[in-house]
Amino acid sequence: SESLPLKGRKILVTAGGTKERIDPVRYISNDSSGKMGHALAVEAWKRGADVVLISASQLDTPDYITRIPVESAEEMQKTVFDEFDDADAVIMAAAVSDYAPATVEKQKMKKKDTLTLSFKKNPDILRSLGEMKKTNQVLIGFAAETEDLIQYAEKKLNDKNADLIIANDVGKKDRGFNVDENEVTLLSRQSEPVTISLRSKSEISVEVIDWLVKNMN
Ligand code: C5P
Repeated sequence: SESLPLKGRKILVTAGGTKERIDPVRYISNDSSGKMGHALAVEAWKRGADVVLISASQLDTPDYITRIPVESAEEMQKTVFDEFDDADAVIMAAAVSDYAPATVEKQKMKKKDTLTLSFKKNPDILRSLGEMKKTNQVLIGFAAETEDLIQYAEKKLNDKNADLIIANDVGKKDRGFNVDENEVTLLSRQSEPVTISLRSKSEISVEVIDWLVKNMN
């Protein structure tokens, strides 16, 4: 029906900053509350979609949202791959850590005057999905940048073979990370960039899911 345009569609949404373990009590992570991803999951559910939220965030979710908790990028990748085959769309809102400690200490490390850690590169989940995706699957990614937002976002759209990139200026305090509001620009191949001015993350989600409804196969 018109009010439930995503009925019967499976939509994966990732959210939150992945945590990469250093030892049993320490990790490195990225700034990300998970608010944007969780708002997108709720909005997709409101339009009738079967939503699977794969979240590294500590935020609560309403009972009606199917949620799979994950911690690291590797765990997130495995879960996304497991759920991808019959998914109609994936929204990668997670702030996936680009690096993880090269080794994970089994015991809590003892304090010393200086500490040097070495890191390995994490898998780029969105990039892999872009390589794997079938023509009917829609891929949405984010580009969080502090400079040259649109140029980097356009590059991501092409390099990662996404269908939509949501460009997010994270250099300003009143929007983006951790706060309730955001201002984004939607970049796709179908049209010129569309800027959605500063508003709540739920209102941003309405616009993004509208785009998805119009561009689903
Ligand atoms: O390359 P960059 O990290 O700026 O790209 C951001 C987009 O790629 C986001 O949608 C993010 O969820 C996704 N990403 C990913 N795996 C990574 C890094 C980013 O899926 N290792």
